[in-house]
Amino acid sequence: MVGRDQAAPPADQLAAMDLTDAVQNHAFSDRVLIRSIVGRPDGGAGLAGQRVRAAGWVRTGREQGKGTFAFLELNDGSCPANLQVIVDAGVAVLSKLVATGTCVVVDGILKVPPEGTRQRIELRVEKVVHIGEVDPAKYPIPKTKLTLEFLRDHLHLRSRTNTIAAIARIRNALAFATHSFFQEHHFLYVHTPILTTSDCEGAGEMFQVTTLISEAEKLEKELIKNPPPSEADIEAARQLVSERGEAVKQLKAAKASKADIAASVAELNKAKESLSKLEERSKLKPGIPQKDGKIDYTQDFFARQAFLTVSGQLQVETYACAVSNVYTFGPTFRAEHSHTSRHLAEFWMVEPEIAFADLQDDMSCAEAYVKYMCKWLLEKCLDDMEFMAKNYDKGCIDRLRMVASTPFVRISYTEAVELLEEAVRGGKKFENEVEWGIDLASEHERYLTEVKFQKPVIVYNYPKGIKAFYMRLNDDLKTVAAMDVLVPKVGELIGGSQREERYDVIRERITEMGLPLEPYEWYLDLRRYGTVKHCGFGLGFERMILFATGIDNIRDVIPFPRYPGRADL
Ligand code: 4AD
Ligand code: MG
Repeated sequence: MVGRDQAAPPADQLAAMDLTDAVQNHAFSDRVLIRSIVGRPDGGAGLAGQRVRAAGWVRTGREQGKGTFAFLELNDGSCPANLQVIVDAGVAVLSKLVATGTCVVVDGILKVPPEGTRQRIELRVEKVVHIGEVDPAKYPIPKTKLTLEFLRDHLHLRSRTNTIAAIARIRNALAFATHSFFQEHHFLYVHTPILTTSDCEGAGEMFQVTTLISEAEKLEKELIKNPPPSEADIEAARQLVSERGEAVKQLKAAKASKADIAASVAELNKAKESLSKLEERSKLKPGIPQKDGKIDYTQDFFARQAFLTVSGQLQVETYACAVSNVYTFGPTFRAEHSHTSRHLAEFWMVEPEIAFADLQDDMSCAEAYVKYMCKWLLEKCLDDMEFMAKNYDKGCIDRLRMVASTPFVRISYTEAVELLEEAVRGGKKFENEVEWGIDLASEHERYLTEVKFQKPVIVYNYPKGIKAFYMRLNDDLKTVAAMDVLVPKVGELIGGSQREERYDVIRERITEMGLPLEPYEWYLDLRRYGTVKHCGFGLGFERMILFATGIDNIRDVIPFPRYPGRADL
């Protein structure tokens, strides 16, 4: 498909372009990017007559004119649109070029196609420089219309499809927008650890990181190959030590030469060494090391239990409480057995943390950031968004426009529950019962944002019982200063809060939630020394992509999805 339609570009855009400019090779390869031809406001027409080298993979190809020439739709991933390439039979063996997935590098002249065709420019090939052939009978993704579900079984090749490539460009744009937004607002990008020894959410949904298992396996194999010494082997070694000791004694008593005594002592030391090695080996036990009936983590790689992080928040707070505005953006991991279309075991999270700021500031930052990303896509990724609108979600561009320009609704959790109860009274059926104190289910969140308000909704002040220990306790002692941003299509996009900065209160909260204090002592230090009002949130990056593109399943918006039972590549 061609991203730009054939309508003439606006006059101001045309005026701003130097249409006579020669098209430039890419800075680091000897070919032009296809986007620098077909992505121009004039669709490339102004480049007619220029000689270029183009390269890419054939999306569709067909021989025509009884095999006298071939049309290739060439795509190099630089934009959704393809370059139409025409190769005459005299230039190359056409049958080698036309299979979907074939890689070609071609030199040729750009020409304006005859009237009545869709393209505004095409490449007439003079020379084929490279062909990476494909056997269409074996190529796993030869057809053009394949389901996203099918493509999940071919992760290494699915990036060759228009859809996955468009999602990759949108994902890239959102990452760029994220850095741009926070950098513009003077936030410092802090890299928090992926390996951690703290459980941020206190929910125990962490993947453990250990070398104990592989070490135990290695040892087991080694002990089979090389069995541990028997009691008799050790006894014999002991015997040898005592014999060698006796020999040294006798030589000393007989006042033997220094050299003879030294040689005998060396023999003795050798015997002692081999005894101690045997004794050491005899202690080796197959299996995971245990102490007092529990796994002995002092023998693990970090000499303690370690995990993959569920959130960089706790660590990034140490920087917020020192340099004031920070964010972290990295992979996070949750060992939840959720098989939903909105959960992954490995996902990326953007987590800003702001000092000298409260829950209102937090909500304002979240709203400004989401709006910024929407505007960014409309400005910089419209061709890919048009592709998504045409093929997946008619309303996705309007949704971005609406979110970019409409103030988010802000309601308290209590008000949200009242609205849901009102809906139930009006006949709305939910699977999960509504009452004050429940954790809002996805169906409730989506009702609020999709049906009731039809725009993003921020719900704040949740019951403390359903939220994490670090959220600031409100004066009512029943709720905490938490906030979730709910958006159409997705439900919860962002979860955040003002943090509890009062030492006594947070200590009490940790204990109240049945968590041990010791692992959080360093976190408590932030409150013991120079405590500060601060807040932050986490945006699920893949959920943002779902929201933007209208794609239904989160497994299709991350290059290498990980979920229960699957971690391909
Ligand atoms: O609401 P969550 O659990 O909040 C935190 O982790 C906080 N420590 C963030 C902070 O305040 N710095 O997760 C934040 C967001 C959710 O709103 C959701 O969008 C996303 O992360 N998320 C997931 N995305 C994909 N798969 C999962 N399993 C997710 N779990 C959470
Ligand atoms: Mg949450």
